[in-house]
Amino acid sequence: LAHKVRVVGTGPGSEKYITPIALEAIRDAGILVGGQRLLDTFGHDYQEKFPIKNNLTTVIKYIKEKMQFEKIVVLVSGDTGIFSFANYLLKHIDSEDLEFIPGISSLQIMFARLKKPWNEAQILSLHGRSLDILPTIVKESPITALLTGNPWTPQKIARFLLDNQITGLKVAIGKDLSYPHEKIVHTTLDLLFEDKQDYTNSVMVIFNE
Ligand SMILES: C[S@@+](CC[C@H](N)C(=O)[O-])C[C@H]1O[C@@H](n2cnc3c(N)ncnc32)[C@H](O)[C@@H]1O
Repeated sequence: LAHKVRVVGTGPGSEKYITPIALEAIRDAGILVGGQRLLDTFGHDYQEKFPIKNNLTTVIKYIKEKMQFEKIVVLVSGDTGIFSFANYLLKHIDSEDLEFIPGISSLQIMFARLKKPWNEAQILSLHGRSLDILPTIVKESPITALLTGNPWTPQKIARFLLDNQITGLKVAIGKDLSYPHEKIVHTTLDLLFEDKQDYTNSVMVIFNE
């Protein structure tokens, strides 16, 4: 390929947390592929845009058709290496034809806010997964970091752990990290399950120290 398909980690969301090399790669692209929010935030008028929805097979087909002729950038949120579409691309496109540009993960910004190291953290995503393994992980790790989301909201996760006799643990939630309205909430499993706040786009950290 004349140009590799560049998969760019755009950071946690705010324009302040994207790297200069990522911005350069985006500027240089003829085609941008990514979630609508990322296309709106980082796209330029002169670029063709292909939104990723629930159309993953179509996305791959589109990239394969265009990659011979055009500079394509695929935008992913946070870092390319953690629960990212980058991994799906690797399964369908030759890794020789891909280049990854890392970004700041939602977990990195969360642990920076907490001023805690995250080298000991167990990291899990619960998107569309069963929670069966979670009680064991939470009991065995001093820090568990979760990417929350459909269907597992922080409240439902707290409820599930309480139902599994795990109580009294401290929890921190980071919502919309990097944005001006970012919120960090310190609570406990026992309080969280009746919390009525909307925690869409949040990471959740459970402490068992
Ligand atoms: C598909 S995962 C992508 C993770 C991404 N690769 C990363 O490094 O952060 C999406 C999940 O990441 C978390 N997330 C992404 N951006 C966030 C932000 N700005 N604030 C809080 N959580 C965020 C949420 O748990 C969200 O459901």
